Amino acid sequence: MPQVSLTPADVEVLPRNREYDIARSLERDWFDNHPFKTAWFNAMSITFPLGEKFFIDSVRHFSDQIDDPKLNEEIRGFCGQEGFHRREHQRYNETLCRMRGYDLNYLEGRLEKNIERGKKFLSPLERLAATAAFEHITAIMAESALSEDNPMINSADSAMRAMWQWHAAEEMEHKAVAFDVYRAVGGAEKMRKRAMRQATFFLMLDVMIGLVHMLRKDKKLWNVSLWSQGWKFLFFKDGILRRVWGAYKEYYRDGFHPWDRDTRPLLQSWKLNESQALTA
Ligand SMILES: [Fe+2]
Ligand SMILES: [Fe+2]
Repeated sequence: MPQVSLTPADVEVLPRNREYDIARSLERDWFDNHPFKTAWFNAMSITFPLGEKFFIDSVRHFSDQIDDPKLNEEIRGFCGQEGFHRREHQRYNETLCRMRGYDLNYLEGRLEKNIERGKKFLSPLERLAATAAFEHITAIMAESALSEDNPMINSADSAMRAMWQWHAAEEMEHKAVAFDVYRAVGGAEKMRKRAMRQATFFLMLDVMIGLVHMLRKDKKLWNVSLWSQGWKFLFFKDGILRRVWGAYKEYYRDGFHPWDRDTRPLLQSWKLNESQALTA
């Protein structure tokens, strides 16, 4: 039987049923007291519940074609992890929109339409390729979020940080699951790379639309200095997107695999910190 899971043997894709009390943080600009930076992360959160449902469906579609018991176990872990992420981010998004007057129906309605369109026009294999691409994006963002110099350390309170880092750690654990399924069912390199270009475009577009909606509701949309600070936060030296650019580009290399980046030390230190925090 061919070995198709390339997740290292000492990495377990383990769903953790965590709940975080973040309502008080969501009421205010929880990231660095900064409206743009906060809205950026909040807009990312909006995409998760529907996005992660799409990922689960895309991977599950192929699960009965997978013979490798290790990969099958990881698919179950992947669906469990994304299921808990969906639940927590749904609660996050509903609380956020209620407290700050954002229109969740508008934001999710757009996403829903795009996903429906994706289901109509993309083959199951293309949807799986899109999932593998989104999973790489979340994995490299996760890598940044779990690094010692991550921008959240001094910028967010402990509940928000714990929530985002829990999500990041599990994204890292399952970063190769959709990818390995894609390879196991014969997905080609060309389609994989094309899916990444499309995934990047749609994710950036959706996050920007969410961001604009939130800043407009906050009556800060036309604040030029806020946008210039926000742009620096994303793209300048140490910007959160600049930090992941090198890892992002690796996806376009022939033969790339997500575990070419051995991120186990980051997972280990997250587990250690989390178990200390939970027993404290
Ligand atoms: Fe997730
Ligand atoms: Fe994921």
